[in-house]
Amino acid sequence: MAARSLKVLVNGHGVTAKQGELLIEAINRSSISLSCDCSGGLGETCRVRIDKGSVEDHGTAIRNSALACTATLTEDLEVFVEPAPKPEQMKGHLVSSAPSGENHLELKVAFTKSPSWVPGQYFRLSMRGQDPVNLFPSFSLNGAAELSCLFFHIDTAQHAGLFAHLAKKKKDSLPVSVEGPFGTSFLRREEERLFVICEAESFAPAWAMAVASTMGQPRRAKQVIIVSYGEVSHPVNAMHSWLNKRRTAADILSTTETSLLEDLRLSLRDLNEFDVVHACGSPSFLQAVAQVVEPSAAQFHPVPTSGMQTAVTEDA
Ligand code: FES
Repeated sequence: MAARSLKVLVNGHGVTAKQGELLIEAINRSSISLSCDCSGGLGETCRVRIDKGSVEDHGTAIRNSALACTATLTEDLEVFVEPAPKPEQMKGHLVSSAPSGENHLELKVAFTKSPSWVPGQYFRLSMRGQDPVNLFPSFSLNGAAELSCLFFHIDTAQHAGLFAHLAKKKKDSLPVSVEGPFGTSFLRREEERLFVICEAESFAPAWAMAVASTMGQPRRAKQVIIVSYGEVSHPVNAMHSWLNKRRTAADILSTTETSLLEDLRLSLRDLNEFDVVHACGSPSFLQAVAQVVEPSAAQFHPVPTSGMQTAVTEDA
């Protein structure tokens, strides 16, 4: 039997589609651009809001949203794709890589023009002789930003290959190719109370959102929670004191993986449907936060910082 023909409205623009087709295919036929990166439902790069109708979400639904690369069409639909900077390829130079703690490096990549991105998005960084890595741009640990630069924080254990590669290079300036930005869990201009929660080793996107909201949304109520499973690292202490000096509530939640759920419940006990939660970390961490957020009906934006597929691109 032939698949039923459907109508999909993408930000008000109508396209025809077929029952069972991937939502992203219908969106791609519209004039609205939605960047897809991993195509496997892993990177939160293609989440769209479903305003009318429903989809077969294949386990990707969060409230009234789904991942377009995974969801399939079952009926007529209206979706909204949040405007975001269009991914592009840029050439730049790694101008510094300095230790920012025992197991962390702060990388500064300079470009001839300012890259567009929103805190919570990521870029794919490639260097000659090194596999591409997905990294979240952020700010320097002293909160500094430079218009034509991106700062990246890398955990030397998580990115051991890149760390070893950089350690071998003695040159001051290395050519770098960057593609992006990707991701739909970025910080929005909203008034709702904001919670930014991260695992200590996934602090980069949380730090970007915390600094941007502190500086750019000063009247917005906000709370940053950094979850640490062991000794508190230098970057976490630096974030904590920078935020507290600027009156942004920031807590370090020292816990264990077994007590995480209970401790998150306590920390987020007054969460309500008007709040917005961004959580950055491993899949199991995001699952725990989702479990705590779900009963409150707060908006939830997961930022997966590991387990994303890294497509192989040409070396710089
Ligand atoms: S492209 Fe859909 S989550 Fe990666």
